[in-house]
Amino acid sequence: MFITFEGIEGTGKSTQIALLKEYMQARGERVVVTLEPGGSRIGAELRRVLLALENRDLTSQAELFLYLADRAQHVAQVVRPALASGAVVLCDRFADSTVAYQGYGRGMDPELLHRLNAVAVDGLWPELTILLDLDPVIGLERAVARNLSEGKTNAEGRFEAESLAFHSRVREGFLKLAAAHPERISVVDATGTPEEIAPRVRALVEARLHA
Ligand code: TMP
Repeated sequence: MFITFEGIEGTGKSTQIALLKEYMQARGERVVVTLEPGGSRIGAELRRVLLALENRDLTSQAELFLYLADRAQHVAQVVRPALASGAVVLCDRFADSTVAYQGYGRGMDPELLHRLNAVAVDGLWPELTILLDLDPVIGLERAVARNLSEGKTNAEGRFEAESLAFHSRVREGFLKLAAAHPERISVVDATGTPEEIAPRVRALVEARLHA
């Protein structure tokens, strides 16, 4: 089963993935946790280029193709083999992030981005996407606090440095995607503690497993 997690910065995606991993493992599943950008060996190099503050001069078009390159490599080398081996794959961001950030955030055509995503994923779409939805004011506060505590300010701050208006457009973009694909994308309110949010995530996964 292929499950992706989406949302703006600071929604707690990686925490929820870790909690769901424990839960699925306790049920006897083999779980592979991965992320975009950066889930493959080559992707890790692309991630550094994409997120470094020093790369503020990266054009929107170049940025788009680096995300798509990361995705194509990740699907072929990590996600598809893991699914073929019978693992549950939990992925922190996937194709919807490109439509939300490069489309609704940067202003590129969402339909065109969907077609480019289709090339990158080569037929492999998630069975379930959990959209952690949060007010960007709260999300950015959380993301900046986390980056400071992890000493990541210079290495990976390019998106946190974007304006609140940018993150608001990205959030609205995710919500539009969820409205357009209700069979795949489920919205979870990400306000509250991780322990409050985890049962909401588990309920969605259980419902999908028994569907
Ligand atoms: P994160 O892994 O810490 O969430 O950082 C990844 C950043 O990259 C985040 O700000 C969202 C952005 N991003 C895009 O703009 N487009 C994409 O397709 C993906 C996967 C991420």
